[in-house]
Amino acid sequence: MTLMRVLPFTKFLLEQAVAEGDKVIDATAGNGHDTLFLAQLAGDAGKVYAFDIQEDAIRATKERVKDYGNVDVILDSHANIDQHVSEEIAAAVFNLGYLPKGDHSIITKSATTLAAITQCLELLKETGLVAIVIYSGHEGGSEERDAVMDFVSQLPQTKFDVMKYQFINQQHSPPFLVAIEKKIQK
Ligand SMILES: C[S@@+](CC[C@H](N)C(=O)[O-])C[C@H]1O[C@@H](n2cnc3c(N)ncnc32)[C@H](O)[C@@H]1O
Repeated sequence: MTLMRVLPFTKFLLEQAVAEGDKVIDATAGNGHDTLFLAQLAGDAGKVYAFDIQEDAIRATKERVKDYGNVDVILDSHANIDQHVSEEIAAAVFNLGYLPKGDHSIITKSATTLAAITQCLELLKETGLVAIVIYSGHEGGSEERDAVMDFVSQLPQTKFDVMKYQFINQQHSPPFLVAIEKKIQK
């Protein structure tokens, strides 16, 4: 298959953006799959800050990365990233929506999501990447999708490149990716 699916493409971009020793953020740890992937990319000299508001997600993520000493799993909203991270980051990843196999009524919400994206863009180094995988099929999902798209579409072109990667002929609101790269300022 030539056209990569959305999640493998997201990982591909993260691989380009994250090198050994980098600091990175998983803004929606969930079951910890992205946290583990980032921990492997950042290596022992790097650091992953993983956030979630659900105890179950924190537990699952801690279990998944138990062999890695480079992960801080933080029970707090990603709206408070700036209270936990002050270092420059190479990348941040968001998987919006609800925890698979978890409580489907606990979802990411536009106000906190936008606050978190803003903080990640502040912390992001030049050439760094913020990847946001957007699911909108659930209740409340389309409102968050629209708020995120509205926000990222207005990011200044002089500072950021913003792209959307989406299959446009699929049914049932499949996830799509928004990727933001901070440009080198001359
Ligand atoms: C789609 S899941 C993430 C899946 C995850 N990437 C994985 O690999 O399993 C979304 C997660 O965002 C979490 N979440 C919702 N609101 C949040 C917030 N304000 N701050 C941090 N995490 C939040 C949910 O608890 C849920 O676990």
